[in-house]
Amino acid sequence: MLIVNGKPFLVLAGEMHNSSSSTLQAALPVFDKAKELFLNTVLTPVTWELIEPEEGVFDFSLVDSLILAARERSLKLGLLWFGAWKNAQCFYAPSWVKTDLKRFRRAQPVKGQNKVFLPLFHGMEYTTLSAFCEETLQADSRAFAKLMSHLKVFDEKDQTVVYVQVENETGLQGAVRDHSDEADALFEGPVPEDFAAYMRGPAMETLRKDMRAAVAEGNPGGSWKEVFGNQAEEIFQASYTARYVDAVAAAGKAEYDLPMAVNAWLEINEPGNYPSGGPIGKMLEVWKYHAPHIDVFCPDIYVRDFLGVCDEFCRIGNPLLIPETSAHSYAGPRLVYCVGHYHAWGFAPFGFEEIGEVFSSSLGALFGMDTSDPLLATPQDAGEYAWYNRTLNDCQELLCEAYGTKRLQAVIGERPETDTMCFGRFAVKAIMDSPHMSRKDSVCLALQTASDEFILIANACFVRVLSLDRECPNVDLLCLEDGEFRGGKWEAFRRLNGDEANIACWKPTLLKVKVFAYG
Ligand code: DGJ
Repeated sequence: MLIVNGKPFLVLAGEMHNSSSSTLQAALPVFDKAKELFLNTVLTPVTWELIEPEEGVFDFSLVDSLILAARERSLKLGLLWFGAWKNAQCFYAPSWVKTDLKRFRRAQPVKGQNKVFLPLFHGMEYTTLSAFCEETLQADSRAFAKLMSHLKVFDEKDQTVVYVQVENETGLQGAVRDHSDEADALFEGPVPEDFAAYMRGPAMETLRKDMRAAVAEGNPGGSWKEVFGNQAEEIFQASYTARYVDAVAAAGKAEYDLPMAVNAWLEINEPGNYPSGGPIGKMLEVWKYHAPHIDVFCPDIYVRDFLGVCDEFCRIGNPLLIPETSAHSYAGPRLVYCVGHYHAWGFAPFGFEEIGEVFSSSLGALFGMDTSDPLLATPQDAGEYAWYNRTLNDCQELLCEAYGTKRLQAVIGERPETDTMCFGRFAVKAIMDSPHMSRKDSVCLALQTASDEFILIANACFVRVLSLDRECPNVDLLCLEDGEFRGGKWEAFRRLNGDEANIACWKPTLLKVKVFAYG
């Protein structure tokens, strides 16, 4: 778990829009919005261009004012280091880096060309810094290390900043790998022996099918093509991108040892269409090997198969932390499911300041949208999202105590084939598809607090407690209450019985239920 101020911490966050932390004035209403939504953390960009406008001259005044403003509001921050990469481009490199193309070399998606035109960017030229350029790595690492050493002095005592994301959506577009002379020479050269041995050895257990097949068919040693066959170029690009990012992270950790994350622009069609070499699910083993200073690999999930991505990112024992996802009406149920099922570190809708206001394609809402499901095109209701966050925040200690155990489970309407959670003698079943209530934003989290007692966070379902004891197959309710946790203590709002003993959760509901089984 993520530990903050000596205690396990659940990152109930939102990521602000890219430009919202460029001035304090722009950030303040966003922090206020975070409070309205009962978030406990805001994911906030810190950009290389603003902290080092001139080489070697650092300005942390904006960073400090953001931290102080967050602190005043009892908010935590996850800082996003927009260094050499932002969405696989070098948007946020300072001008002295951007303009010195000799010293800070660009990647060459096509041999001899440091830019390409990509249809995705509406005719905008695509260019990015090279992962193979030592000068860029040194400059980026120096700036990041300065930021971390500043944070240590300014924030170590309070721990307002709870983790740092190193770069943003790394990788290369327009080609599977860099075609500069130096990249070509490395690609023709041998794969480092220890890496080849790792991929053919321990990594084989978890590698995705397509990767496993390529490694199994390849030679034990030799050039990248010989060892990794049809996956060689992407593995090559991922290896060098991961090494770069790891070196930046290591320089920062040497100054201040905060947890560090990377985030991925997920696969869409072929590598190069999505940024090749980034920490996508398929490349997790490659990244894990080359980037030991990264504590968590995070997916930015705008695609339809949200749960498939979560499964993939948990594949190698990686904790689930979602720094970006769409803010449509599945956001709340997915947040609850991530906590209850994946025991996630955290969850953050992107552009959260617009929840309940604007619902734009920049929120990622339109990516992978399935038009047969209107809920994907329906914005997340702000009041509902606030309720989910407040409730999870209030239960945070109890939930965290149950992380890593079977006492905390969840089911969700998006995965209707699983609707029952087993806890020793009892099972909790969520009826998410009935003639009376059939909605796709169903979710049910169950936390077992004693052998016969459960806390439930549920929406759009009926809940039933069943007995798994053959001798005592019948179950009766002893006590059912709705209510809330205040200062860690349960406070009932109503004792539910009669008609209400039917446990029907028409809207997001927090319940406490005690049962007994009899023969
Ligand atoms: C993913 C990026 O990481 C974010 O910074 C932002 O650009 C979103 N895409 C926009 O949808």
